[in-house]
Order: sequence, then structure tokens, then C-alpha cells
Amino acid sequence: MIKNKKIFICAKCDAQYPKWTGRCLECGGWGTIQEDVVIEGEKKSTLGRAAEMTDLSQVDSQDLARIQTGLAEWDGVLGGGIVRGSLVLLGGDPGIGKSTLALQIAVLAKKTVYVSGEESEQQVAQRSRRLTEKGNISFLAATNVEDIIATLRKNKPTLAVIDSIQTMYSHDIAGEAGSVSQVRGVTVKLLEIAKRDGIAIILIGHVTKEGAVAGPKTLEHLVDAVLYLEGDKYQQYRLLRSVKNRFGATGEVGVWEMTSGGLRGVKNPAAVFIEHRQPQSGSIITAVAEGSRIFLVEVQALVNKTSYGYPRRLAVGFSNQRLEIILAVLTKKLKLPLGNYDVYINVAGGMNLREPAMDLAVATAILSAFYDKILAKESLVFGEIGLGGELRPVVNTKERIKEAMKLGFTQIHLPALNIKVSLDKVKLKQHADLSSLVKEMK
Ligand code: TYD
Ligand code: MG
Repeated sequence: MIKNKKIFICAKCDAQYPKWTGRCLECGGWGTIQEDVVIEGEKKSTLGRAAEMTDLSQVDSQDLARIQTGLAEWDGVLGGGIVRGSLVLLGGDPGIGKSTLALQIAVLAKKTVYVSGEESEQQVAQRSRRLTEKGNISFLAATNVEDIIATLRKNKPTLAVIDSIQTMYSHDIAGEAGSVSQVRGVTVKLLEIAKRDGIAIILIGHVTKEGAVAGPKTLEHLVDAVLYLEGDKYQQYRLLRSVKNRFGATGEVGVWEMTSGGLRGVKNPAAVFIEHRQPQSGSIITAVAEGSRIFLVEVQALVNKTSYGYPRRLAVGFSNQRLEIILAVLTKKLKLPLGNYDVYINVAGGMNLREPAMDLAVATAILSAFYDKILAKESLVFGEIGLGGELRPVVNTKERIKEAMKLGFTQIHLPALNIKVSLDKVKLKQHADLSSLVKEMK
């Protein structure tokens, strides 16, 4: 007999539980567990029909039809534009600029429908006028997915924007809009029409830090591509990062600037994050590689004597766990009494970066703050740190050096490369361990 069974799912990490709990045991999120229904029981086995197979070598490997917007920072991240009939999830914190970006894309890709469950036609029209003079898109204020699908099938646009998945619901699915089952069910329905009618769909999804709303995490495996718009909404720069792409490379990033006229692609992002930098102790410049992009960022460290017994460690824009590891290595290998110090790390510009090559810059910033000494102004630092305190070379070393040289850095501190490099304008200082780096500080 087939019956419905209740289970409980974490909206943040998709872990499943037989009972409700206040806190997810997998990801530690509070209040993220939601009720869901699965169908279980003995199903009568049905015999399938043998299908025709295809010889892959005979398949026409012509380029997929893509919708290009001419915005390099969008098309590039997707590997050349949105593929027709594909479902792209655009996630990000509320207020980061998802609706703004989707509207800009919608205007540039001809024959688009913008479906909003959040804003009225006046709001969207006003924003659209502010962002661009030309361009014409059809607007639909709706939250019922069956109505939306009927409308899309009738009008056959090339692209549809659904803003946002959390506001949409289907009559066929239990639960209220925004619940795990609704969000997933609605996405499956949209996926079907995208494939069947060849309509590319951009699905907007809010991610909240608390994971309180059924998040895009539960949808990642359903859609063709996942893009996240990241950054600090109180600062001007945004990163558009591709974390999944069935039709291109992942890890690619686009850099955007939020202006009064919407988001603008930043053509030369290498230098934008270090514009306002002041050389001082605790401040180190590093070269970060994201996708095929290299940019220079400033890592700041603040090291203070602990006043309440237990030292505080906090990283903004960098991984907290990684910081703990670096502190442990510094304590053990350099015999620094960091157990009595609070350590704060901040990556200037509001970016969230997690590249291993940042290790050495973070460690150097901590050392610089601890000793209150600085590296020469034109110095740049990058490299990975192992648990034994050894320094390891990283990928894209050549590209990082090139970008640093372009921007006037003349001393580059990096792990020993085991090769001889001679460059005219720049001094490569290769270090085997952290202690030789400390000697460079004045
Ligand atoms: P929005 O796209 O509504 O964010 P989301 O859909 O991700 O919640 O954008 C929110 C912010 O962007 C808002 O606080 C104002 C700012 N903004 C600009 O600075 N310039 C603009 O041209 C637009 C349209 C928005
Ligand atoms: Mg929005």
C-alpha cells in the first residue's frame, strides 16, 4: 500500500530527521527543520519499455543555443550566456541586488517575462526605467505556479525571471509558500516547462544566514546552474559566483559595482579592492585567484590582549576554521603566546574569500599586528600554509605575480618554488617557513 509519511528536513543543509528538533544536528542551524511528506510503501513494479540508445559520436556537438546579453560579467560566468531551456538559480542575501541584476538581464535578452511575487508592476516599471532607457519586457504579478506556467506556455518567451522562488506556491503541493516541499515542488514544475518549451528560466532565491526560509541549498541539485551574488550590501562591490554549471566551467566569477543606475560590470577588477588602502601594521595585500580572475585584496588583522580569559577569534570575509588552524600553527611553530590574545581578521571590501593561497597573507597580517611591524609598502604575500608550518606553492603563481607587477608591487613574498625565476622589476622572496618572513618586517 502506498502512503504518505511525514519526515522533517533542514532547510539549510537538506539533512532528514524522523522527528522535529529545534537544532539541526548536521549543520547546527537553529529553527531550520521543516515538515515534509514522502510517499512510501510497496509500489507495484511496472515493466519498462526498452528505449533506443544513441551513439554519442553521432551526436551533433554544435554549440548550445545561448541567450547573450552582451554583459561580459554575466555571460562569462555562465560560460557564454544562458542556455535556452535551462534553469538558472540566482541566490543571495536579501537586498544584495538579485532583482536588480535579473531585471537588467531580462531587458537585454529579448522577449522576456518578469514574474514577481514580491513587487508590484509600478515598482518594477519604475526600477526598469531607472536602469535602462530602452528595452521592453512583459510583467506578471503572480504567485501561483500553475497560472505562471499557463501564461508562459501561451506567450512563449525566450527567458522568464521568477522573483522569487520563496513566494511561489502550487495547489498540488502541501505546505505554505516558502516551505521545503513547496519550493522544491514548484522548481520541479518550472524545470519541466523550461525543458519542454525551451524557455530559459532565472529563478531568484533568498538565502538567509539563519537558513530560516527554505533555501536555494535544497534546489542546487535540481537546476542546471547555480549563481550566487555575494558581497556586503552596504558596500559597492558584488561578486557573481558560479558554483554549479551543467553547460560550462564552475568557479568563474564576475565583479559588479552597485551604482545609482543598477549593477555595472567592473572590467578591471584587479585593483578595485585596494583603492583605499593605507599601509599600517596588520595590513597585508594578497593576490586572490577566483575562476580565471586575479584580484588584489587587503587582509587586515587586529591582535589584542584578551581581557576576559577566553580569547576571541573572528574572521570577516575569511573562514573562521582556517583562521583557527593558522593560529595553532603560529602558536606551535613560532612559539607565539597567541592563547592570550584576541585575533580579528577582516578582508577589506566586503568580499567572502576562501582560497588557501590567502593563508600566508592572513598569517603575515597577524604577525605584523602582533609585532607592530610592517612589510615594505610595495609588498604582496600569497601562499598556503600546511599544518607542519611548511609553506606550499599555489596554483596560478605566474598570473598572480604578473597582476601584482602591473599594479606596482615590487616585492613578492611566496613559498619556495624550487625553480629559479629572474624578473627585472620585481623581487621574488621565496620562503621555506614563517620565521624568515618575520625577519622581513620592520
Ligand atoms: P534588490 O535588487 O532589490 O535586492 P534583492 O532582490 O537581492 O533583495 O536591490 C537592493 C538594493 O540595491 C537596494 O537597497 C537599493 C540598491 N540599488 C541601487 O543602489 N541602485 C539601483 O539602481 C537599484 C535598482 C538598487
Ligand atoms: Mg528582490
